[in-house]
Amino acid sequence: MEEIALRIRVYGDISLRKKARPVRKITKYHRAILSQMARLMYAESGVGLAAPQVGFDEAMIVADIGSGLYKLINPVIVSKQGAQAIEEGCLSVPGVCVKVKRAKNVVIQAQDEDGRPVSINAEDLLACVMQHEIDHLRGKLIIDYASLFKKISVRKKLVAMKQASKNEKMHQSSEKSCELQL
Ligand code: NI
Repeated sequence: MEEIALRIRVYGDISLRKKARPVRKITKYHRAILSQMARLMYAESGVGLAAPQVGFDEAMIVADIGSGLYKLINPVIVSKQGAQAIEEGCLSVPGVCVKVKRAKNVVIQAQDEDGRPVSINAEDLLACVMQHEIDHLRGKLIIDYASLFKKISVRKKLVAMKQASKNEKMHQSSEKSCELQL
């Protein structure tokens, strides 16, 4: 399949709030999208990316925290344990950092790009990334976890950034406040 040009959708884009559909039949089209998602994730120095972030409404994610690339189709969390809170950034909510309380250990069931069932025991950072990406498949963003006060200030900031990027290409230059981009 030809190269598919993907672009990261930013807060305010409707595709970020849509619930992803399960992939019923995996085709070369899905494999091509997953490859492009991985490429884009690395190019943006992210450690995870979900299909809605590039405008697709099917349940697919990629992740790599430095220990190997995961390309997962129809991922679901089947068990959760413990708690942790990590400062998370999101490629779709630029310049924002939110400390999100999540499970410390999760078991994920999914399919790989060939349709084989996979089970992943994720802990710590990988567990955080998986939960963040699976949130994206439900239309949920880190800003939803923020306090009301933070939500208001974030909204103001994003409106200002949008305004600025309309005038000239200066978005993203503002604050890359969070180490972790997913
Ligand atoms: Ni994200």
